[in-house]
Amino acid sequence: MIKKSDIKPLLNEDKIQAGIKKLADKLNEKYKDEEVYLVCVLKGSVMFMVDLAKHLTMPVKMEFIRLSSYGSGTTSSGKVNAVDIKLPDLNDKNVLVIEDIIDTGHTAKFLMDFLRHNFKFKDLKFCALLDKKCKRVANIEADYYCFEVDDKYLVGYGLDIDGNFRNLTYIGYIET
Ligand code: IMP
Ligand code: MG
Repeated sequence: MIKKSDIKPLLNEDKIQAGIKKLADKLNEKYKDEEVYLVCVLKGSVMFMVDLAKHLTMPVKMEFIRLSSYGSGTTSSGKVNAVDIKLPDLNDKNVLVIEDIIDTGHTAKFLMDFLRHNFKFKDLKFCALLDKKCKRVANIEADYYCFEVDDKYLVGYGLDIDGNFRNLTYIGYIET
């Protein structure tokens, strides 16, 4: 059982919020007054999406989907499961996929391929709070990310281990 005291701090609340604000400024500049659909990949991205959305000035709609790739604990299964992807008609829409972290990239690749196969977007971009570039396997990059992180298992601010610690305001790592 991992305790809160086992979590080593990595990004504090102020740092996270400043990174998100900087990204929001970029997105406000890019989309101006055009409507944007945020597609939040549950559950890990919920904190990020909510805080990002508060800074966005264009008309915003929110959609939520569920995928899963990590099994239990800290090992990636490498297989992505579409647990629940119900979306409205996104043809000709601006869509921003909102992810907590891009790691091997399997999830991002699966989702972006799925979306492109089903819709002709006006614009489709992938937005991650964290980018674990050193772990990438799939041929995909985030269009936007706030922080590059090392190969450590991270928890907090949406990220979990076995469902725990999503509610922390900061991000830390656990030694595995
Ligand atoms: P990928 O498919 O390997 O890129 O993994 C993406 C998903 O795995 C993310 O959306 C997270 O839900 C989860 N994940 C990857 N790295 C971590 C981590 O360090 N902590 C918690 N979850 C992670
Ligand atoms: Mg995720």
